[in-house]
Amino acid sequence: MAAQLPIPVYTSLDQAMPDLQTAAVQAVRYNNLVEEFEKRFGHKPSYIARAPGRVNLIGEHIDYVLFGCFPAAIERDIIIACGPSTSAPAGSGGVQAANLDPKYKPQTFVPMLKTGGPTATEEADAANTVHAEASWELDIDTRELRWESYVKAGYYGVLNRFFSPASGSQEHPVPVDLLFTGSVPSGSGLSSSAAMGVASALAFLVLNDKLEGLSKGQLVEMAMQNEKHVGVNSGGLDQAASVICTPHSAIFVNFYPKLTAEPIPLPTPRTIPRAVFVCANSLVVSDKAVTAKFHYNLRVVETLVAARVLGRLLNLPLTPTERPTLRVILSRWLGTPEADLEKEDVKSAIERFLPEIQKLRPPREGRNPGEEGVTMKEMIELSGLSEEQFNEVYLSWVEVEAEYFQFYKRTRHVFTEALRVLEFREVCVRAQATEGDLPEETLKQLGALLDASHESCSTLCESSCPEVDELTRLAKAAGAYGSRITGAGWGGCTVSLVAEDRVEEFIAKIKEGYAPYRELSEEKLHDAIFATKPSSGAFVLKLTE
Ligand code: GLA
Repeated sequence: MAAQLPIPVYTSLDQAMPDLQTAAVQAVRYNNLVEEFEKRFGHKPSYIARAPGRVNLIGEHIDYVLFGCFPAAIERDIIIACGPSTSAPAGSGGVQAANLDPKYKPQTFVPMLKTGGPTATEEADAANTVHAEASWELDIDTRELRWESYVKAGYYGVLNRFFSPASGSQEHPVPVDLLFTGSVPSGSGLSSSAAMGVASALAFLVLNDKLEGLSKGQLVEMAMQNEKHVGVNSGGLDQAASVICTPHSAIFVNFYPKLTAEPIPLPTPRTIPRAVFVCANSLVVSDKAVTAKFHYNLRVVETLVAARVLGRLLNLPLTPTERPTLRVILSRWLGTPEADLEKEDVKSAIERFLPEIQKLRPPREGRNPGEEGVTMKEMIELSGLSEEQFNEVYLSWVEVEAEYFQFYKRTRHVFTEALRVLEFREVCVRAQATEGDLPEETLKQLGALLDASHESCSTLCESSCPEVDELTRLAKAAGAYGSRITGAGWGGCTVSLVAEDRVEEFIAKIKEGYAPYRELSEEKLHDAIFATKPSSGAFVLKLTE
């Protein structure tokens, strides 16, 4: 249901913010952005588009295999003051994009209609066979990290959906002026890229009068496709959290058989002692777009091929050209129509399925860490496809680099993590139904799930790094109920569940223990480690005179 709701358009900040105090603090920031917009572009903006970052509480590296995750939106966000341009030619769709942060230089670009060849979406998705006569081109350089790439990515979905000549549209996009400011640290695992992409898409949608009738779920799907243009084949976790979340709740977001989201109030506000989620940035910057071929996209390919290999080992039906995910393999193994499955059924199905994963144990187990997987040649053989077919289905749309590919570890991570998410959800739902104070045991249960998730991310998914591992150890020693890496990984943030009355002491201990924090100013430290409240999802603020 939450995914079917429209994207909120507010006319005052009080409506948009969870409380008046937050609205008052944010008003200063919003007013400053509006004033700056006027100074730079010589006219007033019409709207502010806003999209938050997110913290994924649990469920890492499983959204792209279509298992459910448990994120919450954070207060840190991207906001864009925007208005139709008064200087660019009408109907050109040209963009002037500026950023309050001087390290991001102003950019101007115009979308071009390119005739012939596959659309960019087709390039990104080998399974897509639709051929368009003319498609939009925005020239994103995926070899280099550029801030405006996310703005262009946000534009693609709007152009392709509403202004595509191939679908018969005769309309032209309006030229726009955009001024950005953001508080989500980039490369920190708090999803600055999705926030940029979602906020940009929203700005283009509202300025072109295309927001009405679009549901949150449709915006999520559009934003997921958009991010592929930046070269990352991510799942929908970040976009769903940024668009669908509501204050005070996390969401249980599911991707199969279709996108659904269930807001689940966190038990923490009613507990004695009260507890909060604290994000701590390792300060190891890891941008998933830059390292995609040996980190993020490699995990996507490893799990996809593992799904085919497992399917073959289990004698499940498979066609040579399809690319089923591990979630789909579970479904085929069950043989039950998906519509008949409740979350409890999925949980018990995973429990029954876990022993089957042993079939993927690698031939070289016991060798040096990292070398126990399979080579490219062995991977192709195990897939049962010819080299040509394999390349077409698994490699033609993505670039990956590895000497050994790990099926067993990645698959074990996926299924155990999917189970932990369902258990986490269950504990939260039970807590919600409990009258009166919650026993501290509830927080301990949640904490144990966070710890187990981190262990799996670190040893099976191998998406952590020594600094992040150290931060989780320090967090536990400083009294956290549980602590884990959040987001894509290989750097970025941890999230820890901490008793509210011990947050200050907790932060002081981490500051003392984590060497990179010792030299930080108070302001920088506040940026690096902070308690976060679940915040609202994306919205548009209509500015009136
Ligand atoms: C990134 C991706 C998400 C998800 C996480 C890992 O944030 O964008 O889709 O895969 O990594 O859980």
